[in-house]
Amino acid sequence: MDDSVLDAFAAWERDSWEVRAAAYAADVGVLTRGAVPALLDAAAVGSGCRVLDVATGPGFVGTEALGRGAVVTAVDQSAAMVEIASRALPDVRQASAEQLGLPDGAYDAVVAGFLLNHLARPELGIAELVRVLAPGGRLALTVWDRPDANRAMGLLGEVVTSLGITGVVPPGPDSTLFADEQRFAALLAGGGLVDVEVARMTWQVDVEPGGWFDTVAAAMPRSGAVLASANEPQRAQARQVYVERALERYGSGNGRCLLPATAVVGSGRRP
Ligand SMILES: C[S@@+](CC[C@H](N)C(=O)[O-])C[C@H]1O[C@@H](n2cnc3c(N)ncnc32)[C@H](O)[C@@H]1O
Repeated sequence: MDDSVLDAFAAWERDSWEVRAAAYAADVGVLTRGAVPALLDAAAVGSGCRVLDVATGPGFVGTEALGRGAVVTAVDQSAAMVEIASRALPDVRQASAEQLGLPDGAYDAVVAGFLLNHLARPELGIAELVRVLAPGGRLALTVWDRPDANRAMGLLGEVVTSLGITGVVPPGPDSTLFADEQRFAALLAGGGLVDVEVARMTWQVDVEPGGWFDTVAAAMPRSGAVLASANEPQRAQARQVYVERALERYGSGNGRCLLPATAVVGSGRRP
């Protein structure tokens, strides 16, 4: 992919999060918080650990690291996310993962929850995260599993595709690339890490499906962009089909469902 395509993708990602930050902060924690303990464990985050939480979003990961007694700095490239995360965390800065503006070797642990599939150039991001890691420190990242496994995110895509709704998402790296454990491990090893570990994790998210459809549509750049291309009757139909399928397959009673969520956590140590 040439540089102009990757730059356009990066700009689209940047702009998307500014408008989706409030919706993400309000309602997505019920999903992504499920992955935080494994992410922090993979980076060996404990009391006194100097932690950098990259792409902190509303601060879900950093908040749990604080709860473990860590000393937390958080960054995000979105000004709206920085404003929201600053309500929960003491030290939040606006910076991109590819250019953190932080000193070499300053952190015992660097963590990034669900950043990787938003990077136009993942190798550059990994190199920058490794740069700020102290020798012996660990880097850990989570990435979503493929949509057919990660139903908490993937069901919406399945529904809109089945209804022929095809929105415009700018071309960029394959968002499921690092759901492949070998590719994920190779990315981390290529960044100079050793003791690389990659593991899949599964949990469930307990939601009311209509509300969850609205959340994914409002908070997630790709799903939001696809649905934005539909007209109002198409969106209403997509919501109805989504609710029916979610209840039929994952219904848990009282109009709620337990959606399977799966993600991959990769980590490694800086020698
Ligand atoms: C899916 S959210 C993850 C938020 C949080 N870590 C969590 O686990 O819920 C992705 C976040 O990455 C941020 N982001 C995307 N690209 C980035 C980049 N290149 N540098 C820094 N932050 C970035 C977005 O602004 C957004 O807050």
